[in-house]
Amino acid sequence: MSTVDRTRQASKAGESRKPKEPKPREQVAERLLKSSAGLWYDPELDLDWAAPLDEDKFFIPPELITLYGTPLWDSLSRAQRIELSRQELANTLSVGIWFENVLMELLVRLNYRKDPTSNHVQYAYTELADECRHSTMFGKVIDRIGARPYSPGFFWFNLGKVFPFLLRGSPMWVAALMGEEVFDVLQRDILRGGAEELQPLVHGVMRIHVTEEARHMRFAREALMRRQRKAGFVEKQFAKFIGGAAAVVLGTLLNNKEMYARAGLDAEQAHRQAKRNPHAHAQFRHGAARIVSFFSEKGVDVMGFPYSLLWRYAKLL
Ligand SMILES: [Fe+2]
Ligand SMILES: [Fe+2]
Repeated sequence: MSTVDRTRQASKAGESRKPKEPKPREQVAERLLKSSAGLWYDPELDLDWAAPLDEDKFFIPPELITLYGTPLWDSLSRAQRIELSRQELANTLSVGIWFENVLMELLVRLNYRKDPTSNHVQYAYTELADECRHSTMFGKVIDRIGARPYSPGFFWFNLGKVFPFLLRGSPMWVAALMGEEVFDVLQRDILRGGAEELQPLVHGVMRIHVTEEARHMRFAREALMRRQRKAGFVEKQFAKFIGGAAAVVLGTLLNNKEMYARAGLDAEQAHRQAKRNPHAHAQFRHGAARIVSFFSEKGVDVMGFPYSLLWRYAKLL
């Protein structure tokens, strides 16, 4: 298969001619721009969309499936487990598209009426372009694996329309990091899961996304740390609330009951067992561990009481 590394030469015309103050923000963005120009993917060309699916391979590794280790899981045949992995991948990618759509709106609004000659603004545009390709790729994958997209449901669907107007500064960067970091850990786990058991297309998609998201997380981490130094009380409190709300969004959307129904299981029973599954809880905590340690190492106070209750409710702490 499949993914072809294509290193492209950085050719950012006029870069050296810009007379700019060497602000840390500009330096960070300049490095990210150079890195983006040097290595990026076009999923349309870099993935082998025509390769046949292997009906005996999983769409996500079994141990990452929400029912893994439950009595219901033990009763499933291999074919049923593979079908469930197909639906869980389609749901995860649908959540990813929903999240990236909100993030793209935030980035457009971030750049609105800002200096387009700054590296910071140009990198935000570069990230937008990445996310456009990612959401297109996710949509194509859902179609290619023979699944249908999942809706985030009425509540989150409509809240997603409001978020771009509400989130600025620290809350925006916290929201961005919550989505990107947790998904990144999950994707790295999928890659580690062993290519021989996994659909090659999925492996290629994860490699592309992990590579490009590393820069996005760097951008958001640096922006959040800078912003926290000057944020006032209200902004910090709102950032904490958004961190807890993002934990609940992830916990809720990744446990979508509809996945089990589409996989031909008793949706109520499966949803109940998944929600009580200690293995799935451990997996969620593992997914959040890196962002949790970033917040605590950098002194970004996002998980203080009472907002920590939301993290615990979502099983991310
Ligand atoms: Fe992305
Ligand atoms: Fe991203």
